[in-house]
Amino acid sequence: MSQKRVLTGITTSGTPHLGNYVGAIRPAIEASRDQNYQSFFFLADYHALIKCQDPEAVHQSTLEIAAAWLALGLNPEQVVFYRQSDIPEISELTWCLTCMTAKGLMNRAHAYKAAVQANKKAGEDEDAAVNMGLFSYPILMAADILMFNGRNIPVGRDQIQHVEMARDIAQRFNHHYGEHFVLPEAQVDDQVAVLQGLDGRKMSKSYNNTIPLFLTEKKLKKHINKIKTNLLEPGEPKDPDSSSVFQIWQAFATAQQSAEMRTQFAEGIAWGEAKKQLFELINEQLKEPRERYNQLIENPAEVEQVLIQGAEKARQYSAPLMAKVRASVGIKPLG
Ligand code: TRP
Repeated sequence: MSQKRVLTGITTSGTPHLGNYVGAIRPAIEASRDQNYQSFFFLADYHALIKCQDPEAVHQSTLEIAAAWLALGLNPEQVVFYRQSDIPEISELTWCLTCMTAKGLMNRAHAYKAAVQANKKAGEDEDAAVNMGLFSYPILMAADILMFNGRNIPVGRDQIQHVEMARDIAQRFNHHYGEHFVLPEAQVDDQVAVLQGLDGRKMSKSYNNTIPLFLTEKKLKKHINKIKTNLLEPGEPKDPDSSSVFQIWQAFATAQQSAEMRTQFAEGIAWGEAKKQLFELINEQLKEPRERYNQLIENPAEVEQVLIQGAEKARQYSAPLMAKVRASVGIKPLG
């Protein structure tokens, strides 16, 4: 049986946090061990430029994200793990797709529409601070996906529309130039936890409420202590289901450990004690990866080597497909 191809990208802006781990990295690495799937994971560094125009930050984030995935057990022998910018065919394909994409389709993209809405509300020009990268972003993402004929695309809810757009673009291209692309499908896993951040909202770098994955023990403890709780005293029963402390606990605990923590909440565990136990639980799981992570951060050349090898593997797929696509649009040797 041929393997199903899974593909997903990680935008290289920001430092990996617990929410990324629980919501994306952990399930992706687990899935990559399943022999029925062939996984393509890549660092979407061209995507990062849309929102992050600080070169040092993009560079550092690329290293941190690559190191995090490797430290957490991604086996680069088993998957295709690469950096988007190392695959020149992705940029070439982006243009070919751009010329087959209706502007109207891009007008409907949520991310662009949200930016326009925000501008209107602020009384600004509709397109104030909107760059063409933000506007055309779904086409670059379509190229990422179609380049490798990714069929299953694990993404968060906010990305479903982009995968649907990739599908539309593929259909239009196939219809006009011949069948080149597999039609992708978004795969949203409802089982995967969306983690709450320090303030109780979704943990996200845009809210500045994250707990970075690889802090020192001391700093991890400090961050966990900052998780918002209510004013209930030790001995007073507490509601686990409305507590971020419990919610984060659940994302790391076994079913048995979660049941035990529920009982402790009912018995009025002190917030300080609950946080202490949460720190111990998380720290235990991150201890070894943290050491590997720190080693990799200190040896960026090692990470670079892994990515170069990944790009070689990836280009075995992208180069022939791009040659076919180019010829299909009429760009080929004369005579
Ligand atoms: N846009 C995605 C995000 O912000 C990242 C991404 C880029 C991606 N290219 C992709 C995800 C292709 C899946 C497939 O989360």
